[in-house]
Amino acid sequence: MAVYSEAVTLFLLCILVMMCVKLLMSFSKKTIYKFPPGPTPLPIIGNLHILDIDRQDFTFMKLAKKYGTFFTFHFGSAKAVVLVGYEANKEALVKANYDFGERAPIPISDIFQHNHGVIFSSGEGWKITRRFTLSILRDLGMGKRTIEGRIIEELQFLNEYILSHNGEPFDKRVFFSATPNITFRILFGRRFDYDNPTFQKMVSLIDYLVIHTGMAPAKYFNVYPILKYILKTPDTVVSKIDELNEVLKVLFKQAREVKSEDSFRTYGEAFLQKDEREKVTDEKEKIFTEKNLLASTFDLMLGGSETTSTTIQWGILLMMKYPHIQKKAQDEIDNVIGLERPPRWDDQTILPFCLALVHEIQRFGNILQYLPHATPTDVHFRGYFIPKGTTVIPLFTSILYDETEWETPREFNPYHFLDADGKFLKRDAFYAFSKGRRVCAGETLARMELFIFITGILQKFTFTPPPGVDREDLDLTADSFFIMRPKDYKVCATPRM
Ligand code: HEM
Repeated sequence: MAVYSEAVTLFLLCILVMMCVKLLMSFSKKTIYKFPPGPTPLPIIGNLHILDIDRQDFTFMKLAKKYGTFFTFHFGSAKAVVLVGYEANKEALVKANYDFGERAPIPISDIFQHNHGVIFSSGEGWKITRRFTLSILRDLGMGKRTIEGRIIEELQFLNEYILSHNGEPFDKRVFFSATPNITFRILFGRRFDYDNPTFQKMVSLIDYLVIHTGMAPAKYFNVYPILKYILKTPDTVVSKIDELNEVLKVLFKQAREVKSEDSFRTYGEAFLQKDEREKVTDEKEKIFTEKNLLASTFDLMLGGSETTSTTIQWGILLMMKYPHIQKKAQDEIDNVIGLERPPRWDDQTILPFCLALVHEIQRFGNILQYLPHATPTDVHFRGYFIPKGTTVIPLFTSILYDETEWETPREFNPYHFLDADGKFLKRDAFYAFSKGRRVCAGETLARMELFIFITGILQKFTFTPPPGVDREDLDLTADSFFIMRPKDYKVCATPRM
């Protein structure tokens, strides 16, 4: 009996000790987490009352003047840490690359991506899908002659399309044509005529999704997912994605039916071949599913078409606004490669002004304020201790417009990327593609597209505002959706020969 009661006492004592240790651990954890300072939050709304919902970057840059370049911001009751300026972002994204390299949940995209694809996913699935996507993009010629040839071929179609407007004003949407076709070639192994109904449908669905996942209702939904019961946006976004997926399934099927000698002819084919080879039985572990293919395809369409088209649209607007810069680029093209031979990727070295121009269009256009990251583990940074899973905001605007890095950050100035001898100057604060673990997966392809398309259309046309529109009145403020687009405009293109 005595032995029995001793055993029970010992057992209870053990439980008590374990509970104390657990309590102590959780207590010490709570006390040692230390967030950087930030504005005082209100109950339920946090700091939302001081946030410019469309230009969050402006709010954060203002707050950095008071709280420093690393501060806490409350989206409702959720804490995020914001990184402002070149130094803070370099320290976090490049030096402490792994610590800030997860993707934070974004409810408006999570409702259809469900942690699939590359852009909006995290963890093992992201790692495998990203690695695979990069290797397929390389196999398919990203950064090589194969893709260069396709871009040059597409440039001819774009130039014909511009020419078909006979000098009359046309909409900036015309520039949302050539770059999607480069992505479609990678995905489905084919291009489309610009008036093809399937092409038009895909482009308009992407347009719809970029607008509606970036408007104020979506941004509030990201803070309070419970709003799905009263907001229409989440349901419409899902139904548009379903519509897009139906089109994609047909295109993948058609691509499969067209036999090719090249075993990795399209991204879709490669994805499904990988699926067969993987032979993974556990459904959860199975990464190469149709769902993931559709999600990754959406990412490549969003990442690979909207971004590059929007940058070209910024470029043309800026050429209308600053005709002397347009002329300087054209003079360089005329003197170096002439009016006939289309520009090639290698020409970067002999067209330094054009290369600087493309970089400055990207810097000034600043098409993405930020895409939220998250901490994959508890993280020590600058004397603070941030828990795993905290949202991190690398504020790209604050790097591309950093007053300590750029001579004239608010001006459009291609000389930011030229040295005193007129040679191209690489700038470390050029974060248009981000840096570190989450760096843009299509950077090499995007750089090639932008250089060839922008110099290729400037070679053939001079862009001016339509009659009656003063270039002084051209508006350079952005429409802030998921991507920061220039406001709607019309343009005239006069052939240069
Ligand atoms: C002007 C063109 C482009 C710009 C400015 C751009 C910029 C960016 C930025 C800023 C990110 C976020 C990185 C981060 O979270 O830190 C990103 C991610 C991504 N981009 Fe791009 N991008 C462009 C073109 C492309 C193209 C052509 C593709 C593909 C063909 C592409 C595919 C992706 C993908 C898959 C990601 C997600 C990377 C990840 O989370 O691991 N992008 N891009």
